[in-house]
Amino acid sequence: MKPQHTGVCLALSMSVILGLAACSNEPTQPAASTASTPAATEASTPTHAASHPVAASSTVAEASVPTATTSDAGDCQFDLEGNDAMTFNTKTITVPASCAQFTIKLSHVGKMPKAAMGHNVVVTASSDVNKVIADGLKAGAAQDYVKSGDERVLAKTKLLGGGESDSITLDVSKLKAAPHTFVCTFPGHSGPMRGNIEVK
Ligand code: CO
Repeated sequence: MKPQHTGVCLALSMSVILGLAACSNEPTQPAASTASTPAATEASTPTHAASHPVAASSTVAEASVPTATTSDAGDCQFDLEGNDAMTFNTKTITVPASCAQFTIKLSHVGKMPKAAMGHNVVVTASSDVNKVIADGLKAGAAQDYVKSGDERVLAKTKLLGGGESDSITLDVSKLKAAPHTFVCTFPGHSGPMRGNIEVK
């Protein structure tokens, strides 16, 4: 485990300058979780130190604007999870106002099939959410419980079964225009599987 991690870290810092950011973050996690093993902490420290002299070359990265944009994109997304207990892993998704677009990746982390425990994420103005849900139920399974061509729907994922995932990307200017809600429109899920999207 330990040598593997060091290998990955070195490979990252050798290949991509961005790798430095990944390396400076990653060792702190194993070190914290395996704090009882001094060896793990010691192992990560030299790796860290070794990466710092290389960081002098990060002035190159500063000149490269696309690199900075890529790291910003890390904050313009959220990993939403739905499970077999009919819940999402959050009730609120916070979108940084500085993002032009925001991606929600929905993962069904359960094992149940789509027909029994289907999850999607549908984003709509909060004032429209109940109508969107009602029309989605009428549309039925064939439409993934979203009315075809529903203009009130800002974005929707596919309906997922256990182990599947899908992403949507939202225009943040539209999210700013009105309060928005994310919801699973599978029958019976829209009560517990619902939350607010707030732009801050
Ligand atoms: Co659901």
